Amino acid sequence: LVTTEDGIDAWLARKAARRLGAIHAPGDLRAAARRALPRMVFDYVDGGAGGEATLRANRAALDAIGLLPSGLRDVSVVDTSRELFGQKLALPVIVGPTGLASASWPRGEIALARAAHHAGIPFVLANAGSVAPEDVAAAAPGHAWFQLYPPPDMAAGREWVGRIKAAGFSALEVTIDVPVPGMRLRDTRNGFAIPFKWTPAKLWDVAQRPQWALAMLRHGAPQPYLTLDAPKNGAAGRTQSEARRHRFSPNLSWRLLEEIRRMWTGPLVLKGVMDPRIIEQAAVIGYDGVVISNHGGRQLDGAPASITMLPECVDAARGRLKLLVDGGFVSGIDVLRAIALGADAVQLGRAPVYALATAGEAGVAHYLRLLAADIANAMALCGASRLAEIDAALVRRI
Ligand SMILES: Cc1cc2nc3c(=O)[nH]c(=O)nc-3n(C[C@H](O)[C@H](O)[C@H](O)COP(=O)(O)O)c2cc1C
Repeated sequence: LVTTEDGIDAWLARKAARRLGAIHAPGDLRAAARRALPRMVFDYVDGGAGGEATLRANRAALDAIGLLPSGLRDVSVVDTSRELFGQKLALPVIVGPTGLASASWPRGEIALARAAHHAGIPFVLANAGSVAPEDVAAAAPGHAWFQLYPPPDMAAGREWVGRIKAAGFSALEVTIDVPVPGMRLRDTRNGFAIPFKWTPAKLWDVAQRPQWALAMLRHGAPQPYLTLDAPKNGAAGRTQSEARRHRFSPNLSWRLLEEIRRMWTGPLVLKGVMDPRIIEQAAVIGYDGVVISNHGGRQLDGAPASITMLPECVDAARGRLKLLVDGGFVSGIDVLRAIALGADAVQLGRAPVYALATAGEAGVAHYLRLLAADIANAMALCGASRLAEIDAALVRRI
């Protein structure tokens, strides 16, 4: 029996948590998310650009990488930790930025941040999120990173960077692969667009996911691009002029990236790099890392798989900056595939969002526990007690 307002949230969370009993592997969560979300929201998360060739390539390229199993090594203790930017992470993994996470679960960014923090790894808050940065930084002390789309109006950009710094975020990722949005055809077909307009088809879609609908009714429909306009302690409406500040910059320049380098004293990472020449220049202007990424196949359909570019990027970096990679990563063996090819860490996009959609913070915590066990298991089977022992000598075509 539900008697109080909070009771409804607790009841929804309990019902969702029960779904986790059937989730035994990191790869189980996509199907669970499909059952939890309205079709248009699932497609927003799951989809890629155009014909989704790059989305499929990310997965296919990972699946083609084999790692040699090895015995006769002492793997009675396996250490999955890795140092990154002077901090020890429990896993070589970062929960990456995904806009509109609150469409998968109310205040989803907070749930992702808390679960990452408790797992001992960073969470990157997307500036296309719906929750105030101060609330996220407080939810993941020491593990909160921020992702920025530099706005065309750099006066706003300067103000934002100041706010992010003051909130206590430790690292900044600047995304450079969205000069214009990609052609996300599932969203176009579903009418999942801003401004959002209800149609009978969309009402029908939502009606089939009553638990999701109830949660959203309780907390209000999520607003994209609210992060940097949201007041502390809870979201609120924003004005049209505020919304207008959130545009992609079709004319991002190295000059601007240098200006951001001067403003941000902590670890600074360029996200959305596929071209090794960009890594060369990023090292020259003093960036600390890059995320090799094709945006999960959501931008240029026809881009190669990000893991395919990793070896060339390792050569270009020459040890000067840290190499993170994302695109298609789900399981422990996936993470080791990237580590073996020279990545310092892997960033996750969809995988934790599927977990979030399934059961909120409990879902993400469950996924990260499964992933940690999966990484340790795969390391032991490869004969490695430390990540440093996972290297290119283990890699073969599967
Ligand atoms: C629903 C969704 C929203 C995303 N929003 C952002 C964003 O706001 N900023 C950003 O830099 N990347 C964003 N990304 C890209 C992810 O950070 C990441 O590059 C990509 O999802 C990695 O691929 P994977 O989902 O296969 O792991 C988003 C991805 C998804 C799936």
